[in-house]
Amino acid sequence: MPIFDTHAHYDSSGFHADRDEVLSALPAAGVGLVVDPGCDLASSRAALALAERYPFVYAAAGIHPSDCAGTGEAEFTALRSLCGRQKVVAVGEIGLDYYWKDNPPRDFQQMVFRRQMELAVELNLPVIVHDREAHGDSLAMVLEYPEVRGVFHCFSGSPEMAEALLGRGWYLGFDGPITYKNAQKAPEVAAITPLDRIVVETDSPYLSPVPLRGKRNDSRNLPYILEKLAEWKGVSPEEMTRITWENGLRLFPSIHLETEASCHV
Ligand code: NI
Repeated sequence: MPIFDTHAHYDSSGFHADRDEVLSALPAAGVGLVVDPGCDLASSRAALALAERYPFVYAAAGIHPSDCAGTGEAEFTALRSLCGRQKVVAVGEIGLDYYWKDNPPRDFQQMVFRRQMELAVELNLPVIVHDREAHGDSLAMVLEYPEVRGVFHCFSGSPEMAEALLGRGWYLGFDGPITYKNAQKAPEVAAITPLDRIVVETDSPYLSPVPLRGKRNDSRNLPYILEKLAEWKGVSPEEMTRITWENGLRLFPSIHLETEASCHV
């Protein structure tokens, strides 16, 4: 069964030296699908360009809270048109980041987040949410849009917050940090997350799992995350791979695999 990496930034400068080499090697390494979320207009366009070049890559388009300074009507208009492109399967990554002190003010981040949630409603797209040190506000924000579904990327909230999201049909993304020795909340969150709501992400080039922590990450490292989740959930790594593949396809309904697409011809 192939692996689905639902969150990897191959457009990032971390891959400038060997992007095509890495991407070309993924299918043979068992990686069957990748979603590359943008963080601003330029990286959303770059993610789309990769998606148009590699059949197994899909893009999301969005403005990340850390990169949202100066966002205005022109940017929202450009984003809307990007989100209408065939290989853009979600609005993301969007959300709130209260960790970095020099990020745009909280109320501005919230305005940009809201506008992109409205775009998701309008275009009937799922969202990829980034929430760092902003759990209460991020949860409150998504609850304002009950018709929108998506994933909390690299979920770092409490089991209570996880329950609130899961009860409303959201997915939770698990990344390299679940393999770290100090991961405390992750096993508790995984324990209460139904198997059909778990997706696996690398966040490449960031967040390499143990034993590769500190090195550049890519989708070929997902087996470390799948193995950890399989252990916690009491299933085999192969089963976890299959389950997270199917979950990813439900999370991003506009991904049409070749075999499926051919049925509609
Ligand atoms: Ni990311």
